[in-house]
Amino acid sequence: MTRLAGKSALITGSARGIGRAFAEAYIAEGATVAIADMNLEAAQATAGALGDAAFAIGMDVTDRTAVEAGVNAVVEKVGKLDIVVNNAALFSAAPTVEIDPDDMNKLFNVNVFGTLYTLQAGARQMIAQGHGGKIINMASQAGRRGEPLVAVYCATKAAVISLTQSTGLDLIKHGINVNAIAPGVVDGEHWDGVDAFFAKYEGKAPGQKKKEVGDAVPFGRMGTASDLTGMAVFLATPEADYIVSQCYNVDGGQWMS
Ligand SMILES: NC(=O)c1ccc[n+]([C@@H]2O[C@H](COP(=O)([O-])OP(=O)(O)OC[C@H]3O[C@@H](n4cnc5c(N)ncnc54)[C@H](O)[C@@H]3O)[C@@H](O)[C@H]2O)c1
Repeated sequence: MTRLAGKSALITGSARGIGRAFAEAYIAEGATVAIADMNLEAAQATAGALGDAAFAIGMDVTDRTAVEAGVNAVVEKVGKLDIVVNNAALFSAAPTVEIDPDDMNKLFNVNVFGTLYTLQAGARQMIAQGHGGKIINMASQAGRRGEPLVAVYCATKAAVISLTQSTGLDLIKHGINVNAIAPGVVDGEHWDGVDAFFAKYEGKAPGQKKKEVGDAVPFGRMGTASDLTGMAVFLATPEADYIVSQCYNVDGGQWMS
């Protein structure tokens, strides 16, 4: 299919997981994709596996200079930037009274500041090009409501939803659509880490939390990265031109808003 033919996309945190699946889906639709990840080696391996339409960029989203350089590298290689997906994020969990300020800083730096830095750098480039663009931020059901052990991550994802709303209202005058996707629980290496936190704090056996959350999804199972690619492609196409500042739940029925 060719719904993104000729488009140039940069996806942060796409060496693995959901970002990698998005890269694969964008390439299948005809786009060229920068696999932008702080883990350059993994990004190179992913780009190698995805073929000629993918290339790797080592980029830590918390480093504004590296983010600017990453956008410049895309323009140098492809000639333009049409789509940015802010996907890189960290997770952590802790009981409220044990929240560590360093950990909180780390999560806000990557999930919120990193998202804004990359959004800004992408938007500057798109404004200079003069023909709009699409920016997609990865939020979460965690940003829709609280979770007892997940205060900081939930707060970062609520911030992502809020940033999507305000920046989307500002940038639409340039023809740049900023929207977000809020997944529920998505199987993969990320959730193996989440499961380990719950094993620690809720005294669960490894894998038990993962099974419980999967069973609780109205659809009947955890999501997979490929459950999300349809929305990620749609939001990057002209079919989504009239969609501004929205956050879509793609979560098997977990949350309604
Ligand atoms: N997996 C889930 O259940 C789930 C649910 C809701 C939302 N999400 C969101 O979806 C997105 C992708 O999740 P995932 O499960 O694929 O995560 P993941 O942990 O598997 O992958 C994250 C990637 O981001 C990269 N990364 C981390 N910090 C970075 C930084 N500072 N700069 C650049 N890259 C960095 C990592 O190297 C990794 O490749 C995240 O925003 C996550 O919060 C995931």
